[in-house]
Amino acid sequence: MEIVGPEGERLKVGPPQPGDGRWMWEVARAAGGLDVNSAYAYLLWVRDFSETTSIVHKGEDVVAYCTAYMRPDATETLFIWQVAVAPTHRRLGLGRAMLSDLVLRSGASAMEATVTLGNESSWRLFRNFADSCNANVTITELFTESDFPDGHDAEQLLRIEPL
Ligand SMILES: CC(C)(COP(=O)(O)OP(=O)(O)OC[C@H]1O[C@@H](n2cnc3c(N)ncnc32)[C@H](O)[C@@H]1OP(=O)(O)O)[C@@H](O)C(=O)NCCC(=O)NCCS
Repeated sequence: MEIVGPEGERLKVGPPQPGDGRWMWEVARAAGGLDVNSAYAYLLWVRDFSETTSIVHKGEDVVAYCTAYMRPDATETLFIWQVAVAPTHRRLGLGRAMLSDLVLRSGASAMEATVTLGNESSWRLFRNFADSCNANVTITELFTESDFPDGHDAEQLLRIEPL
């Protein structure tokens, strides 16, 4: 899948290349709004979960990524862990394109993700995606503030189905 970027550049959406982990970590740090994992976690993720990872490449550079996995106890459900788009490349449809890429490649029939109440762009991304699939969205609370040891906000679980 290809999308045209703000400077007319071609942006390619698809699986990661070996070595992308370090650039995913850079995108995570620049994105804001999400918990940045260790650099090691991104390197390992690319090695072991590339089938459920989507990357947007601008040439060799990574400008967006989405990490996900099929839930071990609900194997038709794709859980979206992190989605991050570089501030320079937002509102181009890259977030939505990565979700579509992952659904197509995984064959999932349902998607889950968690969102904090204040993350408006994330809510809009998932609701917009659900609308484009004509899918239903159900919302429950997955983790309360008191579940976290570090003052993290509560995480609402969105379930989008059928896909
Ligand atoms: C959330 C995020 C991934 C969205 O990525 P994106 O590529 O800009 O999203 P898209 O361009 O695919 O937008 C899809 C739809 O979501 C909505 N949307 C996304 N960002 C929006 C914003 N800031 N304001 C209003 N609507 C927004 C729009 O409806 C948009 O469709 P439209 O442009 O046709 O109207 C991006 O803002 C980001 O990286 N945020 C920081 C990290 C984060 O909070 N990640 C989520 C938690 S893990």
